[in-house]
Amino acid sequence: MGYQETYKSWQEDPEGFWMQAAEAIDWIKKPSKALDDSNAPMYQWYSDGVMNTCYNALDRHIEAGHGDRVAIIHDSPMTHSSHEITYTELRDRVASLAGALRAKGVEKGDRVIIYMPMVPEAVEAMLACARIGAVHSVVFGGFAATELATRIDDAKPKAIIAASCGLEPGRVIHYKPLIDEAIEIADHKPEFCVIFQREQEVAEMTARDVDWHAFQFGVEPAACVPVKGSDPLYVLYTSGTTGQPKGVVRPNGGHAVALHWTMKNIYNVKPGEVFWAASDVGWVVGHSYIAYGPLLAGATTIVFEGKPVGTPDAGTFWRVIEQHKVVSFFTAPTAFRAIKRVDPEGEFVKKYDLSSLKALFLAGERADSDTIIWAQNQLGVPVIDHWWQTETGYSIAAIPMGLEALPVKLGSPGVPMPGYEVQALGDDGHPVKAGEMGAIAIKLPLPPGTLSGLWNAEDRYKSAYLEAFPGYYETGDAGMIDEDGYLYIMARTDDVINVAGHRLSTGAMEEVLSSHPDVAECAVIGVADALKGQLPLGFLCLTAGVNRDEADVVAECVKLVRAKIGPVAAFKLACVVERLPKTRSGKVLRGTMAKIADGLAWKMPATIDDPEVLAEIALALRRMGFAEPK
Ligand code: COA
Ligand code: AMP
Repeated sequence: MGYQETYKSWQEDPEGFWMQAAEAIDWIKKPSKALDDSNAPMYQWYSDGVMNTCYNALDRHIEAGHGDRVAIIHDSPMTHSSHEITYTELRDRVASLAGALRAKGVEKGDRVIIYMPMVPEAVEAMLACARIGAVHSVVFGGFAATELATRIDDAKPKAIIAASCGLEPGRVIHYKPLIDEAIEIADHKPEFCVIFQREQEVAEMTARDVDWHAFQFGVEPAACVPVKGSDPLYVLYTSGTTGQPKGVVRPNGGHAVALHWTMKNIYNVKPGEVFWAASDVGWVVGHSYIAYGPLLAGATTIVFEGKPVGTPDAGTFWRVIEQHKVVSFFTAPTAFRAIKRVDPEGEFVKKYDLSSLKALFLAGERADSDTIIWAQNQLGVPVIDHWWQTETGYSIAAIPMGLEALPVKLGSPGVPMPGYEVQALGDDGHPVKAGEMGAIAIKLPLPPGTLSGLWNAEDRYKSAYLEAFPGYYETGDAGMIDEDGYLYIMARTDDVINVAGHRLSTGAMEEVLSSHPDVAECAVIGVADALKGQLPLGFLCLTAGVNRDEADVVAECVKLVRAKIGPVAAFKLACVVERLPKTRSGKVLRGTMAKIADGLAWKMPATIDDPEVLAEIALALRRMGFAEPK
């Protein structure tokens, strides 16, 4: 069946479509129905089905005779190592860890925070939680202690599983002191921390800590615990408009069904083939396509610890594809921009045999045409931009390569996937005409595998997503749909920005900047950047009477954001202004500021982080009568 027929079959009978998709998963008790709308608009999927995600990701492949197949390849240019873990080995390691967690009192429904770099143990920790029905919450390693503390207080974990350190080019990230600081700051105190000691840094243990290996010794491995389809598998925090992140809740059943469907139909990956998502387990891409998706499909996944350039060179991605015979590759456009910048002629690409590769998938931010064309020319395979969010867990729009290789349109992440009825809505809440801009919204209910709500925040879920357009889920993206049904995602409608494929809240940065004693008022906007897509740029109004060197205040503010949110915020640009441009009602005109800044940056040959460009921006804002530099 091609795309049109498949989409139509879902439209005509969504219940039948999702019940059939559910056949691909092993259930302990089959669900009697797919959609449970008894508590609408809080929808659930497969709520009376009983299953276990870890069983579906590991045990069932072993029982089917594929235990010797490679489940995970860990490739780490950071540690100059590469090794493979078979499905049987992975199952045994996961069962042992799960048993040890249970022996220390972690039960079904308990939360466990995972704070780990790109090591297989991160995926093992996720699966171990899934095995015993505990709810994991992975926190990205580039976040600071305060951000971790916020998540600890919201998720109230019984335990934290962490590595002693992470590795960034040229420096070791000391995870353990960061965790200790976060626990110190948080009101909620986890009962214990499991520390995986890496060779690069052995952390000092406290009375609360247990060693990853030692605490598993002599413990009975855990079997898979049956959970309901609607029971949560994980909570993943993502940026919203405020400093309080949103805890996206992902239930077990729909997640397994939907991800399994996507592996074959979107990514065209078969059991035993190698799929690689060069992301991080701390992001949704890592959850869905480093950990769960490939394993649910019985494929091989790559856990890659490195960067597209500099570890050691711009050929790393191609080396990994050749060495491990990657069939389908997924990353963010920013990674390709980084490679293109140092290897515009593709000299490194030519050195490697990429014949295994069938398609490249890009997501996480808007893919610019230059990058897509460069990738197409270099790799000679279809380059598929696809659009999704932490909330949905997989793509809303894509080119489903396993179903039908529809034509790619530059600038468009493709067509809606079955399960998603997507509309561009006008201010009146009605769909706009083809080709016109609107707020992109999805008709409720969202399909299986999407969020069931926000952790302990049902009202926030409703107000953030469901209230603006009754009957729809508001994506927070603006864009249009053309006459062929292709989507175009142009910008966010809220204060979320996308830096190097990482979703960040300018509101959260403003909260931190406002806490500086010399800052009376501030605004952070996202400005276009040739490498990272967007970069945050701060405007600071100083408190009356403060007469310090502006450069010192700016430097302190940059340091403060790094300390409070983390290096991942990439907040390095700020300037002091007399006042902020505002509407009569006092709303800061962020959009106008961003337009001026972007316009200037693009006109100039330098990048936005050039001090001259920054000075020009401040000057232009002053000329517009918006903001007077001191
Ligand atoms: N732990 C600790 N620090 C981290 C980190 C982690 N896991 N990940 C990133 N950081 C740090 C970086 O070292 C950097 O610190 P610096 O300011 O001291 O240089 C800072 O956070 C910003 O990181 P980033 O924006 O990622 O910049 P970068 O220069 O390290 O790398 C890219 C840029 C484009 C190479 C990289 O972002 C990338 O490969 N992105 C695409 C893949 C991806 O992860 N996409 C996510 C969704 S698909
Ligand atoms: P995240 O939740 O981190 O995956 O970020 C989701 C947001 O990233 C979306 O709401 C979009 O704003 C943006 N995004 C993700 N993929 C794309 C894409 N293919 N094209 C344009 N924007 C994208």
